[in-house]
Amino acid sequence: MLLEVPRPNIREFDFIVIGSGVAGLFTALHLTDHGKVAVITKDRLTESNTEYAQGGIAVALHEDDNPRDHERDTLIAGAGLCDLEAVRTLTVEGPDSVRELMRLGMRFDRSAGELVYGREAAHGVRRILHASGDETGHEVERALSRRTAVHPAIEVFEHTLLTDLLVVEGRCVGVDALALPDSERVRFVAPVTILATGGLGQAYSITTNPLVTTGDGMAAAWRAGCRLRDMEFVQFHPTALFHEGSPKFLISEAMRGEGAILRSEDGEHFMPALHPQGDLAPRDIVARAVVAQMRKDGTDHVLLDFSPIPRERFLSRFPGIVGELAHRGFDIYQERIPVCPAAHYFMGGVATDISTRTDLPGLLAVGECTSLGVHGANRLASNSLLDGLVFGLRAANLAPRLPKLSYELLGVATQMTPPPVRCAPVAVHGHLRRLMQDYAGVERDGESLAEAQQVVGDWCRQLATVPSASRSEVEAANLLTVSRLIIEGALARTESRGAHFRTDYPEIDDTWRRAQVYQADADGGPVITYIDIADDGV
Ligand code: SIN
Repeated sequence: MLLEVPRPNIREFDFIVIGSGVAGLFTALHLTDHGKVAVITKDRLTESNTEYAQGGIAVALHEDDNPRDHERDTLIAGAGLCDLEAVRTLTVEGPDSVRELMRLGMRFDRSAGELVYGREAAHGVRRILHASGDETGHEVERALSRRTAVHPAIEVFEHTLLTDLLVVEGRCVGVDALALPDSERVRFVAPVTILATGGLGQAYSITTNPLVTTGDGMAAAWRAGCRLRDMEFVQFHPTALFHEGSPKFLISEAMRGEGAILRSEDGEHFMPALHPQGDLAPRDIVARAVVAQMRKDGTDHVLLDFSPIPRERFLSRFPGIVGELAHRGFDIYQERIPVCPAAHYFMGGVATDISTRTDLPGLLAVGECTSLGVHGANRLASNSLLDGLVFGLRAANLAPRLPKLSYELLGVATQMTPPPVRCAPVAVHGHLRRLMQDYAGVERDGESLAEAQQVVGDWCRQLATVPSASRSEVEAANLLTVSRLIIEGALARTESRGAHFRTDYPEIDDTWRRAQVYQADADGGPVITYIDIADDGV
């Protein structure tokens, strides 16, 4: 049956940026000398994962630090799956991109005029720049969104939801979207589209990620035939506040960097016996240790003890966390705080090269929605905002040099009937979140993954195509699409590495020193191929 899809409003630009976190806005602001830029975001301009980032930005700027040491820490955390060239790009280009962020108005914390560096897990030195103590992401969004909102070369489309990439003759020529809340069709046409749509934490019932993180860009790229990569690697943060509701409030790792320690329900300080770096062991190790401790104690949380942090330091360094905990009724000087692991960051995403090119000409991708091996199997703390800056600048350098649209292509792009929208019943999202949490969470095994594969595969086959849909219905469909790939990848990878832990294959296996790359077959199901990872010398 042919669906009557309404004609969209058409808007033409030189560049389309989808997403308004650090990667999207940094890219957009650096394109403004080259033409008209559309920034499309499905919520308010400032609503993104970036807004909630607490820890900071890891960068080798201090005179006692250097990019090689930062590279080494990143490679070690990445557990043998990092692409050395990508990591080197991140750490070497990091300092200049952070200086550029400061030029745009970012105010990092300083003492006597000098930048102050914090410490986080698995960093050999203090190298984390932060702002307003623990509100770094908010300050990044403030600085970038303020400029974006008033820039004459940028038009911002808030509450506008990407549905599909517009592909003509094998090239991305723009996007189809829905203007919310009425879900009216709108089409954006441009020679270059840049995906900066962020992660997919909302695939899990326990996550630190805000409601906007539903894998929209990854799902759209997948439908358009792009390869995705490293989908089995979901990073769980060990210390989200244990409370009702979602998302969970993050308790920054920087607190452990300043001395806070994890204790069991009966007070045991359990990390030192498990890893030489104790409470500052890599994030995956601490998350699994917390899960093991919860299982041992029969609890759904462990306790974070702030008492080793001096009170004055506490207030100046963590005003946001102190305020939020007080608001929730915790007396942080008297009590230990209940915490649990939560889905926090996604190492997988749209496969790109180090210039941010995807498989589709005319489509670039930056930030958390991408995967190029820069984080390997496990991202080093506070490398994500840096990733958005470094590769955002790279995209902004490349985009103006890509071919323009021919008159004929422009004609087809504006005339083509939009495809129907993919949607799923909103109730499926609730079931999916619980299933992913239980079957594809901090620990996985073959049996439960196979069960999840069956269930989510069936849900995916039942996705409806309709002329238009609500935001929640589109998001549910996108989450199903990306969750299916997480499950497939986790099932295929019969070893444990970085953030992927299989209880039935608990050891690292060197024959698995390769990235999994996913391509859609004719039915939309994944075919997995591999990229062998060269020895990175660690
Ligand atoms: C944190 O503040 O613990 C999170 C930092 C990060 O995810 O990089």
